[in-house]
Amino acid sequence: MTDISETLSNLLSENRHFFPPVELAINANAKIESYQEADEDRLRFWAKQARRLQWASNWTQVLDWTDAPFARWFVDGKLNVAVNCVDRHVTAGNGDRVAYHWEGETGETRTITYADLLREVSKTANALLELGIGEGDRVAIYLPMIPEAVFALLACARIGAVTSVIFGGFSSEALRSRIIDASAKLVITSDGQYRRGKALPLKDAVDEAVEQTPSIEHVLVVRRTGGEVAWNARDLWWHDVVERQSTVHTAKAFDAEHPLFILYTSGTTGTPKGILHTTGGYLVQAAYTHHAVFDLKPETDVYWCTADIGWVTGHTYVVYGPLANGATSVLYEGTPDTPHRGRWWEIVEKYRVSLFYTAPTAIRACMKWGDEHPDRFDLSSLRILGSVGEPINPEAWMWYREVIGHDRCPIVDTWWQTETGAIMISPLPGVTTCKPGSAMRPLPGIGAAILDEQGKRVGRGHGGYLVLTEPWPSMLRGIWGDEERFRNGYWSRFPGKYFAGDGAKWDDEGAIWLLGRVDDVMNISGHRISTTEVEHALVSHPAVAEAAVVSSSDPLTGQAIVAFVILRSGFEDGDDMATMLRAHVVHEIGPIAKPRQIMVVPELPKTRSGKIMRRLLRDIAENRAIGDVTTLADPTIMNMIAQGLASGMPED
Ligand code: PRX
Repeated sequence: MTDISETLSNLLSENRHFFPPVELAINANAKIESYQEADEDRLRFWAKQARRLQWASNWTQVLDWTDAPFARWFVDGKLNVAVNCVDRHVTAGNGDRVAYHWEGETGETRTITYADLLREVSKTANALLELGIGEGDRVAIYLPMIPEAVFALLACARIGAVTSVIFGGFSSEALRSRIIDASAKLVITSDGQYRRGKALPLKDAVDEAVEQTPSIEHVLVVRRTGGEVAWNARDLWWHDVVERQSTVHTAKAFDAEHPLFILYTSGTTGTPKGILHTTGGYLVQAAYTHHAVFDLKPETDVYWCTADIGWVTGHTYVVYGPLANGATSVLYEGTPDTPHRGRWWEIVEKYRVSLFYTAPTAIRACMKWGDEHPDRFDLSSLRILGSVGEPINPEAWMWYREVIGHDRCPIVDTWWQTETGAIMISPLPGVTTCKPGSAMRPLPGIGAAILDEQGKRVGRGHGGYLVLTEPWPSMLRGIWGDEERFRNGYWSRFPGKYFAGDGAKWDDEGAIWLLGRVDDVMNISGHRISTTEVEHALVSHPAVAEAAVVSSSDPLTGQAIVAFVILRSGFEDGDDMATMLRAHVVHEIGPIAKPRQIMVVPELPKTRSGKIMRRLLRDIAENRAIGDVTTLADPTIMNMIAQGLASGMPED
């Protein structure tokens, strides 16, 4: 959990208000009337938004909620996601419009128009068909931010295959378990990827993973770095298979509830859950929110979302939302500080980016590097700035507004989740008077409430648990292969309402402030990782008898992982123990889960029923006075831990 008391004290003293710029307000895509329109008839509002898309058959019912919590939106409607994202823009005469300005980390560029995209996606779809991929088959995608990642996603959607993208920063072990869970038939990967100026291998991890995944028939490999790769009978080069295909593919329409993608995310147990999204409702809300929250004017705006395709933000706001709206986007392969710390701002200047969407952790990093980097570039094209992934602290919000937005651009702080599929709580840039650090209010058509322990709604000035009170079009349709976990995890805490796992508070003016997770899910640089997942990784090492993981606040990454471990007898704590265990976690999960600190302790604080008291461990991790220990089975344990640590146990 984030330090709620700190967030609360920030918001108590927060009385700055920022009005929408007049010109933006006058020409805004979404006006204040949208709220009223949606309140009057929510389903009619969503049906109207659905008409943004091209449907091959109309729906007979907007929402079927009789089998709750399994929703069906736009019942009997049929459409093809790729046709909506690509073909129809070409048919409308916009084939020459740029879909993506791709910028490689090494400085090379590719300009991909909608007509180019149609050819590439059609060729890829034909290649997938040749490889025996059919409707409903799962395809794992493990790629860097290169155009082929977009082609692969859209080609799968085009033929009705279900994608499961695994972020390139996950280990082979994480890749393996996700491939197995979804029984994927194909993996699409690349030989390597560029990271901070270096060519790193990627296919190696796939080779290791697919040794134990019998469902995989082929590995399709994009050549990116030209690095050496081992070659197996099931491997195929993208350029051999895709390039020779016909550029024409006739797409068929799929049911609105046809599965579109699975995306794994961390829950409160050690096993990630495959969040399932379907076709029609997802694309409707992706398109609507992108239109309303970013106020996209497709003829003139240049939009850039910096998220990786491995996360839900990369799905909804790099691929599906912008393409459904015919946007011109920037797609960037690299990191913000390669080859220099002004790289992002250089790209904004180069492409005249007007809508920019990133994460608080990146904003804080840029803030730390100093104003001189953005100050070197012309940022006058920017008109709206977005934030996503974790609560944005008011200081970072103000820096973003002043140094990047030159005090002209509204900031949309967008709250949503892998499960919600699209933005749920956010300012509307032409309507909302924003406060630094608040996501403000639910979007039109979205119902949210804050409940106390007993499930009663709390009012202004009070905090509690954030819930969503009405089904929404892009809601998850379940967890892949685990109906019970879906019901228990989201719908049982407050029956009939979706429990998001976040704490929130209404302020005195009716704005929502997100207060971080209330469960055992951490948010590291905007990435979700469960404490249990890291604990499982640690205890899978032969030296570890027991482990407890907590998060500690971190000025850069928001939260950081701190692990307490008890060693098995026969293992000694030495200089390299923490280093070895950190490397082990990286191997099991990936670099994003690397603990900042590992502390070897003689015991863990537990209640009489054996539950680890993480609250006390968090006190240690954050160097605070240790709280109430009266419920501990053995109250002397905290002294033992504290003394052990003070007497020089290595902290790494
Ligand atoms: O705790 C909330 C936080 O990120 C969680 C969702 O993580 P994930 O599924 O990985 O999706 C991230 C990108 C949509 C939420 O439960 N979160 C996300 N956006 C915000 C946020 N917390 C506060 N403010 C936000 N704008």
